[in-house]
Amino acid sequence: MLYLLLGLLLNLAAPQLAAQQLAAPQVPRAPYVATPSDVVERMLRLASVTSDDVVYDLGSGDGRIVIAAARQFGARGVGVDIDPARISEARRNAAEANVEHLVTFRLADALETDVSEATVVMLYLLAAQNVALRPALTRQLRPGARIVSHNFAMGDWQADEVDTFTSADGHTRTLYLWRAGNQP
Ligand SMILES: C[S@@+](CC[C@H](N)C(=O)[O-])C[C@H]1O[C@@H](n2cnc3c(N)ncnc32)[C@H](O)[C@@H]1O
Repeated sequence: MLYLLLGLLLNLAAPQLAAQQLAAPQVPRAPYVATPSDVVERMLRLASVTSDDVVYDLGSGDGRIVIAAARQFGARGVGVDIDPARISEARRNAAEANVEHLVTFRLADALETDVSEATVVMLYLLAAQNVALRPALTRQLRPGARIVSHNFAMGDWQADEVDTFTSADGHTRTLYLWRAGNQP
């Protein structure tokens, strides 16, 4: 009897679940590629990071961006990554750099992360992920918060600054800066 009832409930819910899946198409995920240290420096400078900042890196890899912000400027930081191996690595790196009191790493989906306490958001994700993040960034960030993206734009959002240069490894890099509150 119980199984009959459960079966009936699942059948009733099935069309709703299917509709939700259709309504929420999967956004492709950026693979792990670390930002070289000279480019990290440039991202921190472009965002004008200071000790007053709370720096979020959405897709934080080995944690290098928030760790550098903490080490050099005393900024608080939060790294978010979907890959548990990256989160463990980032925590180890934070301990080695003696910045565990300033940084936190969370195993989570960047697209479901609350960024309302961030004053700086760093991104090295795919263009489609950046676009998918726009509604949350618009809703949650306070005016004046800075968003810096390595190599990928934000759809038709006009950047406040664009920095194109050749990094130490010989690659051409573009960094984009947006200030929250300046978007349409
Ligand atoms: C290109 S790497 C950048 C790593 C680091 N931010 C850096 O610049 O060195 C992208 C990272 O984003 C993570 N990632 C991809 N999609 C994600 C998602 N939806 N939520 C959280 N992390 C994600 C990957 O696991 C990977 O570590």
